[in-house]
Amino acid sequence: MGETSGAIIRIAKAGAGAIVTKSIGREAREGYPNPTAVELEYGILNSMGLPNPGIEEFGKELKEMGEVKIPIIGSIFGRDSEEFSFLAKKMEDYGVSAIELNLSCPHARGYGTEIGTQPDVVESIVRAVKKSVSVPVFPKISANVSSVVEIGKALEEGGADGVVAINSVKAMKIDINLKKPILYNKVGGYSGRAIKPIGVRCVYELAREVDIPIVGVGGIERGEDAIEYMLAGASAVQIGSAVYYRGIEVFIEICKEIKEWMRRNGYDSIDEFVGAALK
Ligand code: DHB
Repeated sequence: MGETSGAIIRIAKAGAGAIVTKSIGREAREGYPNPTAVELEYGILNSMGLPNPGIEEFGKELKEMGEVKIPIIGSIFGRDSEEFSFLAKKMEDYGVSAIELNLSCPHARGYGTEIGTQPDVVESIVRAVKKSVSVPVFPKISANVSSVVEIGKALEEGGADGVVAINSVKAMKIDINLKKPILYNKVGGYSGRAIKPIGVRCVYELAREVDIPIVGVGGIERGEDAIEYMLAGASAVQIGSAVYYRGIEVFIEICKEIKEWMRRNGYDSIDEFVGAALK
């Protein structure tokens, strides 16, 4: 939903507070052949292969989003500091409000977790990107690491303005009749309700140790899920798979559910309960 101007305009009208684009790279990529996604009992397993039109072409798509009044956060993926900085600068020139660094795609060779799980690499990528742009920079990290805190501290050291946790979790599904993995790429990223406890745990661990704001993501389907992330320390949340489960109205519905919970609990602002579970 984050790749074309049409979809992004629809999401803005549906009540989202901001939009993160599909991750964009230097060159156009077709992505993997199908099957690239499969719905499982408790979530969605996908391995798209980072399909995207490439940064030049994406600029045209962003131009058509002039009527979108909410912030657009440009997500980018690269192989190294140089590529990330180049893409970030392009996104900034296109007018995005912030940059998200995809340091956590669970399966693409040379990208994502292959670079985003090494603290020194993460720190130098963030530092380089911060030098090349003036908009806020939010790295999105993986739960597939031995310590999210170590990664969180490294990116804070590099100058990140916030941290997004978590990306989809590395997983696979085998068809027992075909006796083969279902996905073309065999391994993919698992999203949806199954990964919520993993995301909440990562946000909680980060909130105890880093001072920058945290964006919580992973399995948020209802207002109650967003609240759980906020109690763990997230001051904003992202929604992905729930658009598939609840339709595009999910944004306005989740806002309503959060407000209703706040009213019942006597809160006027989310600041009154963000991180409350840490106390
Ligand atoms: C893809 C990218 C991701 O960042 C992710 O979490 C899952 C899949 C992809 O394009 O394959």
